[in-house]
Amino acid sequence: VKKIAVLTSGGDSQGMNAALRAVVRSALYHGIEIFGIQRGYQGLLNNDIFSMDLRSVGDIIQRGGTVLQSARCKEFYTEEGQRKGAEILRNYGIEGLVVIGGDGSYQGANKLSKLGINTMGLPGTIDNDISFTDYTIGFDTAVGVVVDAINKLRDTMSSHERASVVEVMGRHCGDIALHAGLASGAETILVPEVPYDLGEVAQRMTHNFAMGKRHSIIVVAEGAGKGDDIASELARHSSQIDARVTVLGHIQRGGTPTPFDRNLASRLGDFAVRSLIRGESDKACGIIKGELVLTDIDKVVNTKNKFDNEMYELALRLSQ
Ligand code: F6P
Repeated sequence: VKKIAVLTSGGDSQGMNAALRAVVRSALYHGIEIFGIQRGYQGLLNNDIFSMDLRSVGDIIQRGGTVLQSARCKEFYTEEGQRKGAEILRNYGIEGLVVIGGDGSYQGANKLSKLGINTMGLPGTIDNDISFTDYTIGFDTAVGVVVDAINKLRDTMSSHERASVVEVMGRHCGDIALHAGLASGAETILVPEVPYDLGEVAQRMTHNFAMGKRHSIIVVAEGAGKGDDIASELARHSSQIDARVTVLGHIQRGGTPTPFDRNLASRLGDFAVRSLIRGESDKACGIIKGELVLTDIDKVVNTKNKFDNEMYELALRLSQ
């Protein structure tokens, strides 16, 4: 392999820059020419491709967002778009492509590999919804943002003996809600993976208030319901519940990445380049029990991500 390219695609996540830095510097270390593609697959189709050097990725390891920017590209879902993309890469003499993104980005990489481009996927999303990796790049930072917000909400909720419904991101996955919920001592965690009954939740909340609790935090994953609907439903079940709603939104996708995300991104970025050099293609890079692993992209996109039920039960047990 003499020339490879890298792009970030889909929703951005903290640590994408650290991954870019690792991909670029690892490629250069191994004597490979490296190109950056601006704005994901859209940039590829627009020929927005430029050569990168060691300095192109200086001073970015600590920054959220992605210096290559990102986009969700409809045209790339079509066969015509995919062929055009492969053709453009070939015109540059680019044989390998590292794609940093989530599920949709992986599917694009899978299509390109069938058109003769060697591809590697890196899990860049705050949602932690990708199978065959314990963690995705950005998840740890997003969980930190949520925990920080809940700490603040707890202060004011305690003063007024109120309940706080906190809606968090995650798309169809409850991992952000679960991990932030356990870390912040939330009383209730609502996730799409576990059915819930708001009547029961309301009962438990009124009981807890009667037993001396001064606040009640309900973390709801966006895939499990809307914060506003949950709050009005709880009030319908019990007139004693005075709930305020906070939708954390995109602040969960910003800010400086944690050391965990930076190190995960650095390890995975280097691993992706080394794997391309070894002749691997159409693989997703992941980390399982601390070990770097490669899995067929097809398998990754067609396997549902596991939800940690034990952790969920633990969070509930500890929130009495
Ligand atoms: O996939 C990351 C994510 O932030 C999800 O948690 C959320 O559902 C979605 O992207 C939001 O998308 P957008 O940034 O396009 O509004």
